[in-house]
Parts: sequence; C-alpha cells; structure tokens
Amino acid sequence: MQYVPFGRHGFQVSRLGFGCMRLPTKRQDEKDVIDRDEAIRMIRHGIDRGISYVDTAYPYHSGESEIVVGLALKDGYREKVTLTTKLPLWAVHEEKDMNRLLDEQLKKLDVPYLDFYLLHAVNKDRLDQMEAFHFQDFLLEAVRDGRIRRPGFSFHDDYDVFIRALDAFDGWGMAQIQFNYLDDETQAGEKGLREAGKRGVPIVVMEPLRGGALANPPENVARLIRESPKKRSAVEWAFSYVADYAEVATILSGMSTMEQVEDNLRIFDGLKVGGLSEEDKKFVHGLKEAYLSRMPVKCTACRYCQPCPQDVHIPEIFSFYNRGKMFDNPGFFRGRYQDLANQGFDASRCVRCGACEAACPQNLPIAEWLQTIDAEFKRG
Ligand SMILES: NC(=O)c1ccc[n+]([C@@H]2O[C@H](COP(=O)([O-])OP(=O)(O)OC[C@H]3O[C@@H](n4cnc5c(N)ncnc54)[C@H](OP(=O)(O)O)[C@@H]3O)[C@@H](O)[C@H]2O)c1
Repeated sequence: MQYVPFGRHGFQVSRLGFGCMRLPTKRQDEKDVIDRDEAIRMIRHGIDRGISYVDTAYPYHSGESEIVVGLALKDGYREKVTLTTKLPLWAVHEEKDMNRLLDEQLKKLDVPYLDFYLLHAVNKDRLDQMEAFHFQDFLLEAVRDGRIRRPGFSFHDDYDVFIRALDAFDGWGMAQIQFNYLDDETQAGEKGLREAGKRGVPIVVMEPLRGGALANPPENVARLIRESPKKRSAVEWAFSYVADYAEVATILSGMSTMEQVEDNLRIFDGLKVGGLSEEDKKFVHGLKEAYLSRMPVKCTACRYCQPCPQDVHIPEIFSFYNRGKMFDNPGFFRGRYQDLANQGFDASRCVRCGACEAACPQNLPIAEWLQTIDAEFKRG
C-alpha cells in the first residue's frame, strides 16, 4: 500500500480508503440492515492490512453506518485511522441545527472528535443556503472547541460551482469529489481536481468505480480489457487511472464483501502516483471511448431545451436512456424513467411543438428520440 502526505496537514494517508456506504447487509424484521459482524470484520481487516482512512456519513445505511463504524473503531482501531463523517445539509433548517447534528454524529460514532467533517453533497442551492447560515463560523468554532480537526466538503455539481465552493472558505482541509475515467470531464472533473491541487486542497475521490459499474463492463469494453497484454482486471484499470494523480490523497472504495476488500488491498499494493505509462493512459482513454460509443443520444445536457412547454424532462430522459445502454443495464433506465412517468415528466407528453429542437445546439432530432425511448419503455 502506498502512503502519501495528506496535502500539507503533516500526516500520511493510505491510498485506499474505506467508504462505509455499501457495507454488507442482511434481512432482519423485513428490512435490510448492516451485517454488523461481517462489516466490523471487513473494516478491521482493512485497517490491519494498512487502510488508514475511513469515510462515513449521516444517511448511509439509513443512519446505521455511523454506529457500525463507531463499533468497528473500538479496541484501538480509532487511533489507527483518519475518520471522516459529513453534515447532512438537507437536514439543516436553521443555524443551530449544525451544532446539534455534529453532536448527534459524535455520539453515534462514540468518539470525542473527527479528523475531518465535511459539508455533505454540496451543490449550488446547498452552498447558497449554507452561506446564509454562516457555515464558516460554525466550522471554525467546531475546530476551536476540538470536535473536529479539519473541515471539508463533498461535492456533486459542475466545475463552476466547485470553484465557488473552494472560494467560499479559506479553511478547507480537503474536497471529496466523484472522479473516475468516465467522469474526468463531468462534475468537478480533472480541471477541478487540478485547481484544488494548486490551492493546496487535497482531493479525496469517491465513486472511483462509478458505484461499481466500471467493475462490470459491457462486452465491447470487456473485450478490450481481455485482449490487452497487460492482464489487468476492469477494477484494476479503473483504480490505476485515479491513483495516477498526485492531487489525490486517498481513494474511497465502498467495499461490500471481504473478497472485494482483499482484491482492492492486492490492487493497491501495486499502485502509485504517476504509475501509468503513456501507453496505459491511451488504453484507459480507449475504454472511455468504448463506453461513450454505446451512448445512443449525443446529448451534452446543456439544458438549452429546458423548460419544455409540456414539462418533458428531456436531458434527464436522455441521460437515463444513455446510461442504461452504456452500462448494459436496462433496469436502471426503466426504474428512472418510471419515476419520471409517475411525476408526469416522461416523453409521452411530447406534442412535437419543436421548441426544444430549435434550441438544441447539437441539432438533435429530439422529438424522434423521445418517441423511440417511450416506445422502448412501453415494449418492456
Ligand atoms: N459524499 C458523497 O456525496 C458520496 C457519494 C458517493 C459515495 N461517497 C463515499 O465514497 C465511497 C466510495 O464510493 P462508492 O462506494 O460509490 O465507490 P465505488 O468504488 O465506485 O463503488 C463501490 C462498489 O464497487 C464494487 N466493487 C468494489 N470493489 C470491487 C472489486 N474489487 N471487484 C468488483 N467490484 C467491486 C462494489 O459493487 P457491488 O456491491 O455491486 O459488487 C461496491 O459496492 C462511498 O462508500 C462513500 O463512503 C460519498
């Protein structure tokens, strides 16, 4: 396992971090709960083998993740890791909620302090709201009174909002972004990662396997991987892409089985910053192209077509359809499309008025695609 300095904080961190959003579960009283014995065994085994960063959050596993992480970190394990949890911004309705939630989380984790406390899933609206609540004062006060060592934020929006978030506070100790070889130009993207690096804000990566999708590639991508002389698995290629960046302190993997923990420990033993050759980079770029070639609708989600006079959520429909095809996962498309239909935002409302096509910079035949997609959904 490679260890790297955590930015300029003066301590090191393992390149592989344990993300506790996808712990093993079992069925109990007609609901899914964490399989606590197995989760604790996995987290402790990961730490015994060198993982020194653990990430959880208020909503993971319906609130149970923080409790189980707290249990896993008993018996001397707390001292071996950098521990992070996150303030659920959607639950902050007034300023005093921030203190109340932090105290509740410390209690659930049963620890006196956190190494990092992040504003969870920052986007434009939440950033506006948190600025109105003077989040900077709250974080600085929590550092002063010892409940947290360093503040940070996790992020889900576009590059411009990422820069606004970086600008909003001098005290950021880290930023957590979604980053993998398919998301190098979406959300904060590589540009955001580089900018954070320039400002001395270390990056923690989430969703390095796109939530697991990159571990199970469709046939055209799987063939490229099979036929490569390098003999790396799909998971290895995905991790090695992210691990190449010096700006990245640690890479979170949401491991759900002991086999995944073992596999990822083995993979990270062979990864280091700057470890990808130019040829490897070209290969990973080829994997990305192979995924993108499966996207039927070349929509860039610029949203010029919105709002639609009939309230058809065109970019979302195209995104769900494309993702279903890209990852060979029709169930994903069907589930999301059904949600839109339930809210009255699906393609069947299109009356072919042409307003969207007149606005589309890509000149997409939008009405035709909407009809095709709706028909495919209805065929089942
Ligand atoms: N702050 C936020 O807004 C936010 C959002 C997302 C995530 N996170 C954090 O970031 C962490 C990492 O994100 P993520 O969980 O989405 O990471 P990820 O690595 O992209 O996806 C995790 C999934 O990948 C699969 N996987 C992992 N290792 C594997 C292996 N060796 N072989 C095959 N499949 C493997 C598993 O899927 P299967 O279970 O399907 O096999 C696992 O559940 C989370 O756990 C959470 O702590 C934060």
